Amino acid sequence: MILQHRKKLNLLLVLTIAGALITQSFNVRQQQPKKLKNIKVFPATATYQEVDHAMDQYKVDLGVKCNYCHAPEKDNPRKMDMPSDENPMKEVARNMIRMTDDLNKKYIATIKHTEQDTTKIQLVTCNTCHRGVPKPFGKAPAATPPQGLQVPKIVGTSGK
Ligand code: HEC
Ligand code: HEC
Repeated sequence: MILQHRKKLNLLLVLTIAGALITQSFNVRQQQPKKLKNIKVFPATATYQEVDHAMDQYKVDLGVKCNYCHAPEKDNPRKMDMPSDENPMKEVARNMIRMTDDLNKKYIATIKHTEQDTTKIQLVTCNTCHRGVPKPFGKAPAATPPQGLQVPKIVGTSGK
């Protein structure tokens, strides 16, 4: 029973890493499988189609286009070079994917659900925070932080 629940949860977790991997493998004709070239955070088992599907979700969750994170091709700037890491936003997004996955694995997964309410398991996704915008919380909060709460100083690029 618990094992089954665990399995379900694990499955869900695998799904979040990709943001929202919904497998469509059933109704998709097997074409030449496209190769993934520069994958650092998606699981090694992820297919091109799954990654592509997650990308569509990021686009919606952040309200941006693919070129927000991807660089254009060098020879043909009208096309996108998806494997390229030329656009620094891609690395920010990688960290966001890692963070989201950590939130689910380390914290959300500790919430107990009974066998009956497994359908209510909710995971953190990009949309949990972003809600259709790249900068989710807009301007810096106007209110002063509560007493005793230290807001970290933003340091310059030189580090400490
Ligand atoms: C919020 C940022 C973001 C947006 C928007 C985004 N991507 Fe990505 N994309 C990434 C990141 C990050 C990776 C690398 C994932 C990794 O390293 O595991 C990636 C990887 C890919 C790859 C795999 C490339 C390879 O072979 O290594 C494809 C294909 C891709 N994206 C397509 C798209 C398409 C199409 C869109 C628009 C629908 C899109 N992406 C929008 C962040 C983004
Ligand atoms: C727990 C909340 C939270 C989650 C979940 C989250 N983000 Fe973010 N994200 C933020 C915040 C807050 C910022 C803005 C930080 C700043 O600008 O200082 C941000 C910024 C970003 C940026 C940079 C935007 C810019 O214009 O500078 C990208 C790209 C991004 N997130 C992608 C993602 C993706 C992709 C996911 C899902 C895999 C995700 N985020 C999940 C809170 C979150």
